[in-house]
Amino acid sequence: AESYPNTKRDNRFAKLTPEDVVHFRSICPVLSAESDDIAAFNTDWMRKYRGQTRLVLKPKSTADVSKILKHCNSRSLAVVPQGGNTGLVGGSVPIYDEIVISMNSMNNIRSFDPVSGILVCDAGVVLETADNYLADQGHIFPLDLGAKGSCHVGGNVATNAGGLRLLRYGSLHGTVLGVEAVLPDGTILDDLSTLRKNNTGYDLKQLFIGSEGTIGIITAVSIICPPRPNAQNVAFFGVNTYEKVQETFVRAKRELGEILSAFELMDDTSQRCVAQVTGKKRPLEGEETKFYVLVETSGSNKEHDDEKLEKYLVALIEDETIVDGILAQDETQARNLWSWREGITEVCGHWGGTYKYDVSIPLKELYSLVEDVKARFIERGLLGEDKLVVDVVGFGHMGDGNLHLNVLVRSYDRRVEEVLEPFVYEWIQKRKGSISAEHGLGVAKREFVQYSRGETELSIMRSLKSHFDPKGIMNPYKYIKT
Ligand code: FAD
Ligand code: MLT
Ligand code: ZN
Repeated sequence: AESYPNTKRDNRFAKLTPEDVVHFRSICPVLSAESDDIAAFNTDWMRKYRGQTRLVLKPKSTADVSKILKHCNSRSLAVVPQGGNTGLVGGSVPIYDEIVISMNSMNNIRSFDPVSGILVCDAGVVLETADNYLADQGHIFPLDLGAKGSCHVGGNVATNAGGLRLLRYGSLHGTVLGVEAVLPDGTILDDLSTLRKNNTGYDLKQLFIGSEGTIGIITAVSIICPPRPNAQNVAFFGVNTYEKVQETFVRAKRELGEILSAFELMDDTSQRCVAQVTGKKRPLEGEETKFYVLVETSGSNKEHDDEKLEKYLVALIEDETIVDGILAQDETQARNLWSWREGITEVCGHWGGTYKYDVSIPLKELYSLVEDVKARFIERGLLGEDKLVVDVVGFGHMGDGNLHLNVLVRSYDRRVEEVLEPFVYEWIQKRKGSISAEHGLGVAKREFVQYSRGETELSIMRSLKSHFDPKGIMNPYKYIKT
């Protein structure tokens, strides 16, 4: 595991006593290091961050969460809310002995209105479970991502996850209509509105969307879910230059219009890595190209939609904007094509670890960051067989201007870090980009927020944090420096 930057256990926080544990046991099921295996709650998805909690609480209701936080606040016991523990910035695991509040047992669908499409569910409902439930009702969850089998709806809202179809359904800041949350002192904030429009004062729920467990625990969410498209299709093609990739994006927007539901970019390195690790046959048979693009359409008329996508693809091949491309002929093929995109995350860790940067950059320069970073490693003789760096990979949600830069390493090493930081952050700052497009800040980005936010913004954020959480017990050592 990586060492944590510039932190020491904050002695404002009390240490857990046997009396605390007895009290918690009177509220909800408890797992303790003395009698249970709690290693999984201390380790993040990447196995990069490791905490030292000795206690995991599993509330079953909002009232349980309220009682827990009330006690923690009065005793100054620090806590970490944990959803599906799929976060990629180390935000979901403790650093020292913070108590983990696992939302796993709060997993009921509360209501669904088939007319408005509004779903109300507990925070601990797994994203895929919510989507399967909605599928039975002819609706779709307006967020999809590779971790759907484990991540929670509450975790998604807490991180303001973006995912694969943001381009079509928009951000959670638009689709989430209401939030129920427990504040650090145990107060229940009932903003679980199911109204589409509500301009009655400040929109408080927005503060919880993307707050990463720092101002309260989200216990339920209300979200508007569109009808499930009855026709979906996927095209996958190879392109040789980034200029041409941009052209394919412009034409996708123009020619596919309202049925365009994903536009994802993958570089050749990412695809070679997936092929190498999974042993699967590459989707395109001809010569390799520098870039690959996955375009998805979602609409209501299969015949029309397929015809549009085919026309788009054929025109791109004919005028040589792209080198080669295929169209999925059925759902299995579509899923297989998606696996070449969704599978990248898992594969990136294969050689030992990956330094992940999740950034927003004006589209024109989106891929230059990957090239510049790779050049730096080559220049320093750090990239190659038996070298520290295996390769530099770029992929992401091109349709949203969101690049995922991954530096694949054999082990985490200061010498790699020194090449990357602050270089990457300065590079982003120069282009007025964002150092965190969708994964959030957690512990990984806390030291670098100032590259994307000014002092006035940061000072308002710090005062919001201290307004909600004056004792600082909620997910300490993360997000922003207080
Ligand atoms: P956790 O990892 O458990 O927690 C994340 C943060 O939210 C922590 O700070 C935690 O304290 C807080 N939190 C969790 N639940 C609550 C709650 N109920 N109340 C308050 N705070 C809470 N992210 C994207 O944005 N787009 C992607 O496309 C994407 N793809 C991914 C693919 C893979 C394979 C993996 C492993 C991750 C991916 N992620 C992606 C990152 C991750 O899945 C998301 O950040 C997800 O939203 C986290 O949900 P979770 O339930 O696992 O939260
Ligand atoms: C993705 O787009 O696949 C996710 O954000 C995960 C990642 O960046 O690895
Ligand atoms: Zn992503």
